[in-house]
Amino acid sequence: PPLDNIINLHDFENVAKIVLPEKAWAYYSSASDDEITIRENRMAYQRVWWRPRILRDVSSVDWSTTILGQKSTLPVYISATALGKLGHPDGELCLTRAAANHGVIQMIATLASCSFDDIIDAAAPGQVFFLQLYVNRDREITRKYVQHAEKRGVKGLFITVDAPQLGRREKDMRMKHVDDDAGAEVQKGQDGVKKDQGVARAISSFIDPSLSWKDIPWFKSITKMPIILKGIGSAEDAVLAYEAGVQGIVLSNHGGRQLDTARSGIEVLVEVVTALRLRGYFPDPKFEIYVDGGVRRASDVLKAIALGAKAVGVGRPFLYAFCAYGQEGVEKAIQIFRDEFEMNMRLLGARTIDEVVPDMVDASSLKSH
Ligand code: FNR
Repeated sequence: PPLDNIINLHDFENVAKIVLPEKAWAYYSSASDDEITIRENRMAYQRVWWRPRILRDVSSVDWSTTILGQKSTLPVYISATALGKLGHPDGELCLTRAAANHGVIQMIATLASCSFDDIIDAAAPGQVFFLQLYVNRDREITRKYVQHAEKRGVKGLFITVDAPQLGRREKDMRMKHVDDDAGAEVQKGQDGVKKDQGVARAISSFIDPSLSWKDIPWFKSITKMPIILKGIGSAEDAVLAYEAGVQGIVLSNHGGRQLDTARSGIEVLVEVVTALRLRGYFPDPKFEIYVDGGVRRASDVLKAIALGAKAVGVGRPFLYAFCAYGQEGVEKAIQIFRDEFEMNMRLLGARTIDEVVPDMVDASSLKSH
């Protein structure tokens, strides 16, 4: 279907399912075990209801914000998704070019198909990037990678902490024998490839399962970039992260791809904010909370913001957008978000992101633990 027929983010998924090779669809769309968490990621947002405010002169509304002090035209960043070339020959560069045109921040995946330098070389002047880090068993490789990223201007280091081992994504595992270039290219410098268990497992065997809280000071010693822990799922770990002195956390279950029946980010947000507030850790402008997983509408984003998130990560919708339509698809996805932010903020009675407050949601279905 022509791009003009796309009217919401779900549409990209439906098109991607048709146009993608079977193996790419299996890798991108799969989630772990019984795929309960990936479903819950959508459903949790549907249990949160609005309490809108009226008569507030919403003739002009502004949904721009900052993320880690960096300007962003949307309270949304493009989250890291690996192996973009399985779905489009230009891979992650589709995201980079679209993000440049619209002032959106892209998080580059350790396992991106395009090399880190190819992505940075394609950047517009001043374009902002974050880096998603899988920590290598060989810390020298990780140190060099991180320091190179910092030198090339990356503004935030998102260390993935929910993947000491990759989840069993059974749809993906049924596609044995990795023989594609997209997978081969990312392996440069990351040793230990197994080729018989689906794409995800094949490319991830270098990840260090011994990673622990004791390693955080080391990361702080090798970089001045803000450090964010991606993949927090409980208030206890949010408190430990704050006390470890990192600059932020992503409440995430990896798009349902890791621990199945882990709760959704929006559900975890409520208990995290409660626990941090209790200790005087929230609000703190030097510690930002992000949420990802299942965000398909500006309304979802605004709910997370109302409940205390600074911004929200979006994975599959941008991925599917470029698989189906390349860079143009990603630009369209961003445009859809913009239109939805305008409408939702008007109907909600919030002129700026700061005016999206807890009283605007009925989150009584989300327990605070
Ligand atoms: C991911 N995600 C991910 N996260 C990460 O830290 N490192 C990675 O390499 C990847 N790779 C990856 C590949 C694919 C195909 C998907 C769908 C996801 C997780 C991603 O950053 C984010 O947490 C989720 O995608 C958010 O959920 P939604 O927006 O996809 O529902």
